[in-house]
Amino acid sequence: MQRRPLIAGNWKMYLTQDEAVALAKAVAQSAAACADRDVMIAPAFTSLAAVCTAVQETGVLVGAQNIAWEKEGAFTGEISAPMLKDIGVSVAIIGHSERRHVFGEDSAMINRRLHGALNGAILPILCIGETLSEREAGKTFSVLEAQIRHGLAGVDTEQMQQVVIAYEPVWAIGTGKTATKEQAQEVHAFIRQLLESIFEKNVATAVRILYGGSVKPENIDELMAQPDIDGALVGGAALKAESFDRIIQFQ
Ligand code: 13P
Repeated sequence: MQRRPLIAGNWKMYLTQDEAVALAKAVAQSAAACADRDVMIAPAFTSLAAVCTAVQETGVLVGAQNIAWEKEGAFTGEISAPMLKDIGVSVAIIGHSERRHVFGEDSAMINRRLHGALNGAILPILCIGETLSEREAGKTFSVLEAQIRHGLAGVDTEQMQQVVIAYEPVWAIGTGKTATKEQAQEVHAFIRQLLESIFEKNVATAVRILYGGSVKPENIDELMAQPDIDGALVGGAALKAESFDRIIQFQ
């Protein structure tokens, strides 16, 4: 099964609108040289519309860093799928470790957000990952299984074909400490097996599972060479055109 690689940049709370547009244009140039892979960038909400305009018709996907579950209503601070669709956004990152650990989003809320994306025809990237203490206590697989089962509750086989999973070990995010390719592959294979047991084999075989956590030009090639790693969700190294270009051009 040939899964189309997806290289995604999460810009977090960085860049003004002008900086975001300049970087988006550079990313579009990098992506144009690689027709066999998808490239996505997720700017802060203030730059989403301008970035959508900047990359229009380049094939670069634009993602939001979160998404509401309702279409509209009294939800101060939230942005819905129809609002995102309206400006050209087609992807949403959901359940990022910073949303879970800094802002206290729980599995039930993350599951609602995922359904909000699916119902609004926005492709969700569901992020999961264990903390260092969970890993050291031997709980990695049970934590990830719970995050997957709760995060995907109520998702049917057909909807699952629209979902991307991102494995981001919390201890590897922004720390410079990447999971080894063996550690990442072991977890990705576990996730795929789990998806096969929840859905069916062809869904599990087709789903894209990204790795995130200190991905950089120096380690992208070895990560992408692993059989169950289908792409990367990149933070810090996605903020510089040169390093993200090298990651997009992985071999
Ligand atoms: P870093 O690449 O900076 O470790 O961030 C990873 C991440 O959180 C992407 O969503």
